[in-house]
Amino acid sequence: MVRDILVWPHPLLKKPATPVVKVDDSVRALVADMFETMYAAEGVGLAAPQVGVLQRVIVLDTTPRQPESLPLAMINPELLTLEGETTYTEGCLSIPGEAEDVVRAASVTVRFLDTEGQSQTLACEGLLAIAVQHEVDHLDGIVYVDHISTLKREFIRRRMKKLQAQREQPRANL
Ligand code: NI
Repeated sequence: MVRDILVWPHPLLKKPATPVVKVDDSVRALVADMFETMYAAEGVGLAAPQVGVLQRVIVLDTTPRQPESLPLAMINPELLTLEGETTYTEGCLSIPGEAEDVVRAASVTVRFLDTEGQSQTLACEGLLAIAVQHEVDHLDGIVYVDHISTLKREFIRRRMKKLQAQREQPRANL
């Protein structure tokens, strides 16, 4: 089921998420919904707080619709190592239509539970390394605009308010 994606600055996007205690069918159902929601929105990553669930769950696919497509679901992800530095123009499904340069580590190692509850460790570089850091940030109540200048962030906040107002106007598709 495709779920609604919260738009920043929704208060739930600023709250830290809590660790998953047991990887059960309800967590697997959440993961399935998150993949469906992410692909429908044409994103490469999604964190549970973006669909209003304050649990430490993220999904990623940095090469969607390609033969090498690798859907990754990470439960309770933890960054073990961060190395180097890189700048990438990031967007976010919770901040539609915007993109800004963000400086992050160039490569990371992440430990997480998979959907069977098994512990995995994955070395990531390139877009995957950036996406993992972006999504783990979401679990700590941080969005990419928290990493840019106040001025740019306030411009984006204003545009999101306008967007939100437009969305809340009554409408009918006849
Ligand atoms: Ni995001």
